[in-house]
Amino acid sequence: MKPKILVTREVFDETLDYLAPHCDVESNQQDVPIAADALAQRLAGKDGVMCCLTDRVDAGLLDACPLLKVVANIAVGYNNIDVPACTARGVMATNTPGVLDDSTADLAWALMLAAARRLTEVEGYIRAGEWTGWRLKQWLGVDVHHATLGIIGMGRIGQTIAKRASGFEMKVLYCNRKPVAKEVEQRLNAKHVSKDDLLAQSDFVILQVPYSPETHHLIGAGELKKMKRTAILINSTRGGVVDDAALVAALTDGTIRGAGLDVFENEPRLHPGFLDLKNVVLAPHIGSSTEATRRAMAMTAAKNLVAGLTGKTPPNLLNPEVKRP
Ligand code: GLV
Repeated sequence: MKPKILVTREVFDETLDYLAPHCDVESNQQDVPIAADALAQRLAGKDGVMCCLTDRVDAGLLDACPLLKVVANIAVGYNNIDVPACTARGVMATNTPGVLDDSTADLAWALMLAAARRLTEVEGYIRAGEWTGWRLKQWLGVDVHHATLGIIGMGRIGQTIAKRASGFEMKVLYCNRKPVAKEVEQRLNAKHVSKDDLLAQSDFVILQVPYSPETHHLIGAGELKKMKRTAILINSTRGGVVDDAALVAALTDGTIRGAGLDVFENEPRLHPGFLDLKNVVLAPHIGSSTEATRRAMAMTAAKNLVAGLTGKTPPNLLNPEVKRP
């Protein structure tokens, strides 16, 4: 008998085609988000789940679904999964690292360029039919080229963001729990500094740390005050890394110049203050959302799931210490 799995959100046809020979698949192709209690019901009796960052996999859910052997997240971030709770119950947890680094780095850059050159503001102006002609002092932005870029979190995606900075001849600062290898620093022309120095010296600050209790509100009112008044903050990692209420206040009173945000606290109900501000570029958590990358993420998760359910070690196992029966 094939193992039974649930795919919690809509995926691509090729993902289902890959899964079908290996698993008995129930898939939510209508893409209606499944509430926590309904998720427990639909997962009861399943051996595996392919889930997304909108699904919370915690101890309660795992206890309600004792047959579960593999939880395959379609995301690199896995703060929606209680990995220690999975480990304690012998459940493998996996994510999708690597395949989304470039697309996510591109989106961070898109936000940075858009905020620096005020692209969403000027587009609104043109669409409203307000453009009456060219003026020398119209819509002045700030330069990205030759500016100082500060990256907080120098993992794979942080490094991919840094790589792009050389074309813009930027000075790159970074902070990370521990400095990256010297040859990586040299290749990226990046200097390890303290968080305070990074905040004080950077024209653009990009956040690329995973969300966890340690990174909750890593940027709050105190940190925003340490930034240059001309600086722009980019959050393309996870909501909660920034204290959004503090950011709204800082953007309103000119503590910093602007922001570019792809992620928010309490998505999709973002802080209403953002909607009234012109100096923030907003995107709906689309960091990895290109056709090719989302297909690759779904396939990576499917391969992790099938590997775990067929007695192999999933390529992206988050809890290798898990004891399997
Ligand atoms: C998306 O946010 C991801 O973590 O992959």
